[in-house]
Amino acid sequence: MPVTYDLEGQKRVYATWAKFYDKVYQRMLARPQREAVAAACACGPDILEIGVGTGLTLPYFTRESRVYGADLSLDMLKVANRKVAEQHLDHVRGLMVMDACRLGFQAERFDAVTAQFVITLVPDPEQALAEMDRVLKPGGEIVISSRLVDDGGLLAPFWAGLAPLAKAVGWSTDFKVSRLTGWAARTGRYETVHVGGGYFKVVRLRKTASAG
Ligand SMILES: C[S@@+](CC[C@H](N)C(=O)[O-])C[C@H]1O[C@@H](n2cnc3c(N)ncnc32)[C@H](O)[C@@H]1O
Repeated sequence: MPVTYDLEGQKRVYATWAKFYDKVYQRMLARPQREAVAAACACGPDILEIGVGTGLTLPYFTRESRVYGADLSLDMLKVANRKVAEQHLDHVRGLMVMDACRLGFQAERFDAVTAQFVITLVPDPEQALAEMDRVLKPGGEIVISSRLVDDGGLLAPFWAGLAPLAKAVGWSTDFKVSRLTGWAARTGRYETVHVGGGYFKVVRLRKTASAG
């Protein structure tokens, strides 16, 4: 089935969210965001964050890191840009409008690529993963934090039933961990090194070899 891209719809949603996103999500998402950022920083200094939004995660990176942030929404990026200036986040080297499925970076440019609370919003997550893979150095990690559902968990049918409702507000309830770990296994070049527990999960996929 062809994937339909409603990127304009996504931009409209986040043009509105930009105004109050931090107030709603700053505390709620801090634990998984800090965990994901720490894992990314452990890989090396050159880090790409996809769907960086208002830049909630940016203060969590070490000052030795060199972070680039990409997002579909200019309105969200404007808030992030303000944060960088006001908090003197000099480790942030660039914020740019970019689709997760078409990254404008050269191959094997980054030590880590992180995507936080965005993969479930992308119409073609496997294409976004393929792009993360392309720009990631061998030995590096794709670090994803999101609301993800355990496969075969007791509540899986409940979350699946809620999916249409949640989709209306842009929050996935039926995106399974195995969609990420299965992609990693199929490449033959990634190992799943961590799947966190809890409502919001952090998944780490390590690239063991170059695509060749
Ligand atoms: C729920 S917010 C998460 C923001 C940030 N990562 C955080 O953890 O606070 C989702 C962000 O993903 C962005 N986004 C959605 N689809 C995208 C895509 N295809 N490519 C890049 N960014 C996208 C939205 O514009 C929004 O800023």
